[in-house]
Amino acid sequence: MLGDHAVNPPVVLAPMAGITNVAFRRLCREQGGGVYVCEMITTRALVERIPKTLKMVAFAEDEDFRSLQLYGVDPDVTAAAVRMVGEDGLADHVDLNFGCPVPKVTRRGGGSALPWRRKLFGRIVRQAVEAAKPYGIPLTIKMRKGIDDDHLTYVEAGLIAQEAGVAAVALHARTAEQRYSGQADWDAIAALKQALDVPVLGNGDIWEGSDALRMVEHTGVDGVVVGRGCLGRPWLFADLEAAFTQGADYKPVLPVLGEVTKIMSRHAELLVDALGDEKHGCADFRKHIAWYLKGFPVGGELRRRLSMVASLAELDDLLGKLDPGEPFPVGELGQPRGRVNAPGKVSLPHGWLESRDDDTVPEGAEMENSGG
Ligand SMILES: Cc1cc2nc3c(=O)[nH]c(=O)nc-3n(C[C@H](O)[C@H](O)[C@H](O)COP(=O)(O)O)c2cc1C
Repeated sequence: MLGDHAVNPPVVLAPMAGITNVAFRRLCREQGGGVYVCEMITTRALVERIPKTLKMVAFAEDEDFRSLQLYGVDPDVTAAAVRMVGEDGLADHVDLNFGCPVPKVTRRGGGSALPWRRKLFGRIVRQAVEAAKPYGIPLTIKMRKGIDDDHLTYVEAGLIAQEAGVAAVALHARTAEQRYSGQADWDAIAALKQALDVPVLGNGDIWEGSDALRMVEHTGVDGVVVGRGCLGRPWLFADLEAAFTQGADYKPVLPVLGEVTKIMSRHAELLVDALGDEKHGCADFRKHIAWYLKGFPVGGELRRRLSMVASLAELDDLLGKLDPGEPFPVGELGQPRGRVNAPGKVSLPHGWLESRDDDTVPEGAEMENSGG
């Protein structure tokens, strides 16, 4: 449950900046039930009504549970953004991002650096929850384990958020230092579940429907949040639904190449629609191509041409050169995809670690939408 909204199956598409726009969400929603979170929106840009930001808060008419992630570092600005979401009827659910590990964000004290400053974190979450209340909007948070293994925050932050009245807490079970490397620590998710009474959502390394079942069994979480596993594989949401309804014996969707290319064409068309023209839609689609074709025999030259595709006709022409009967490369199942970068020391503002109870709002930490 998220507030009054039953989430069935208990699956959430993780917010991914530059990915989970209205086009990608539609493709995923068509595959199965769950909550499908919009791209992250910066609170300051929202309250300043920056046109580009307002355009990103786009939902399809049939999105019956419009879920929006906000990023903020200032309790007042965050509350103002949440109020605006309520007043303008922009969304039905708001999630706050405290997981972004991008250096330009943590260096200013934002994203995954913020929960360390527990008083400031508490103020942001409390004010956001209060702002959401009159509109009946459930407010959730998404966070990492902490800054690094010596500076873990997740249990304390979870308790603070619970006390503030959040509807659920999601944990991406890596530290900021780990970025996307190594394995997510599902034991930490289990520990958080033990510590909290509010629903806990587990996130990290769900590549298949079976992984989701394993995570639930291992941690007791109320739901799963799925990010990179669905890149180039929107049908993963069909698998997730099948796994939750049929159990471990579900049959995974294994599209042949011709079916994959059909979904690719559709994704590109939806992006053209969402972004307003073919040039921008096709340019945006390029980042998805390698994910869709991962493991299929495509050939270097065709891959190169696809990576520069500039129109829908060209895309269809190039995809038409592939063998539609080629079976799904089952060796890809269960394998990490998307970002898998190396760990890196977390850039923080001067003196950040030494003053946990300082609740000064960090300056300059509201960046362009960058995700995390
Ligand atoms: C390209 C990309 C963009 C992301 N953007 C966001 C974001 O805007 N907000 C957020 O909370 N997490 C963001 N994340 C993190 C994911 O939501 C998720 O927590 C992470 O990928 C771990 O889950 P996974 O193992 O299922 O991928 C992003 C991840 C990726 C790969």
